[in-house]
Order: sequence, then structure tokens, then C-alpha cells
Amino acid sequence: MNIQVDEKHWLRSLQESDLGLLRGLLNQPEIEESLVGWNFPLNPDEHLKWFRGLPLGATTQRFSLVRTLDGSEEWLGFAGLWDINWKDRHAEIGLALDPKYQGQGLGKKLIRSLSEYAFSVLNLHRLEAFVLAYNGPSRQAFLKCGFSHEGTFRNKVFKRGTYFDLELYGLLAEEVTP
Ligand SMILES: CC(C)(COP(=O)(O)OP(=O)(O)OC[C@H]1O[C@@H](n2cnc3c(N)ncnc32)[C@H](O)[C@@H]1OP(=O)(O)O)[C@@H](O)C(=O)NCCC(=O)NCCS
Repeated sequence: MNIQVDEKHWLRSLQESDLGLLRGLLNQPEIEESLVGWNFPLNPDEHLKWFRGLPLGATTQRFSLVRTLDGSEEWLGFAGLWDINWKDRHAEIGLALDPKYQGQGLGKKLIRSLSEYAFSVLNLHRLEAFVLAYNGPSRQAFLKCGFSHEGTFRNKVFKRGTYFDLELYGLLAEEVTP
């Protein structure tokens, strides 16, 4: 079952043929700068081994954001739910869009549809997002989707010779507004 983001955009499961596009995105310095994790250059061999080594029924769900135009599919970015805790019913949400598709409202739509899937399909109760303190678009996207700032980890992430604060945003199932 794919997740509809809007009339043109869908989240579908990440597949092996997406790896080149995913790697191209994660290897861009401005994308690395905005994310926590994925901090090292990725090469095709290691990337494929990683993908083929992923356990089935894992506590992570990875998606590609795609758009279908005239029967052909365009890849726009990725998203996922990490560290799904089936007992306490929470998970971490994350996403990254190709820079060509940023700033057009897609991030907000994606966060809303993935939150809806997490709460209504997976029956999770809480989502959390970790945002680098200087990542304004990410902060705004989560706030505009109903997430609240719950705290700040001081000097948590080391990048380019400096420690940066990491902010925690949370959303409970009952806080989702239509
Ligand atoms: C963060 C990200 C997912 C947001 O998605 P997006 O499609 O670019 O964002 P949206 O267009 O939905 O805008 C969300 C809000 O962010 C703000 N925003 C968007 N682009 C911005 C920019 N270039 N500068 C400052 N604020 C910006 C706006 O407040 C906007 O809300 P508004 O349009 O209602 O005012 C996307 O920019 C991205 O992939 N960035 C790189 C990876 C990343 O940072 N991932 C998140 C890690 S926690």
C-alpha cells in the first residue's frame, strides 16, 4: 500500500533501484549539513550491501517520495519512520527532499501524510523529530504540521569543527488537526 501525499505525489517503499538517486541526494554537502546521520561519503558497493542487509520486519520503514507524470516516475526524495517502538507506540520521523523540490510546500504535505499513516495505519501514539538548531525550514515544517518544541540537546552534533544544538519536536496522535 503506497501513501498518498497529494493528487500527484506518493510515498512508496524504498527499493534497490532508488539507491543511486538516494546516494546522489545524501552525498550533497548541503543535504548532509541539514541532517543528523549520513555524515560520510557513500559509495555504491557499501550502499547496496547496506540495503540488502536490512532485516525484514524491522523497526524502520523507508520511503521514496515519487511523482508520476505521463506514466514515468520521478524521484523527489526520501522519508522514513525510524526506531519504531511497538510497545510504547512511538517513532522518529525524518525526510529529505532534492533541493529542486524544496520550498514548494511538499515537505509539509509529506509530514502530514506520513503522520496520518503512522497514527491511523500503524497505530502509533507519538512521533518525534530531531532538528539541527540552524535548520529553519525543517523547524517551520514540523511546527506547521502541529509538532511542538519539547526540548533542546545542547552541543549534541559535531559538524565542520563546531558543536550544534539539536532540537526535539513531538506530535501526539490526538494533536493532529484535520
Ligand atoms: C526540511 C524540508 C523537508 C522541508 O520541506 P520543504 O518542502 O522545503 O518545506 P515547505 O515548502 O513545506 O515549507 C515548510 C516551511 O518551512 C519554511 N521554509 C521553507 N523553505 C524555506 C527556506 N528556504 N528558508 C526559510 N524557511 C523556509 C516556511 O516557513 C514553510 O512554511 P510556509 O510555506 O507555510 O511559510 C526540506 O527543505 C529538506 O528536505 N531540507 C533538507 C533536508 C532536511 O533538512 N531534512 C529535515 C531534517 S530534520
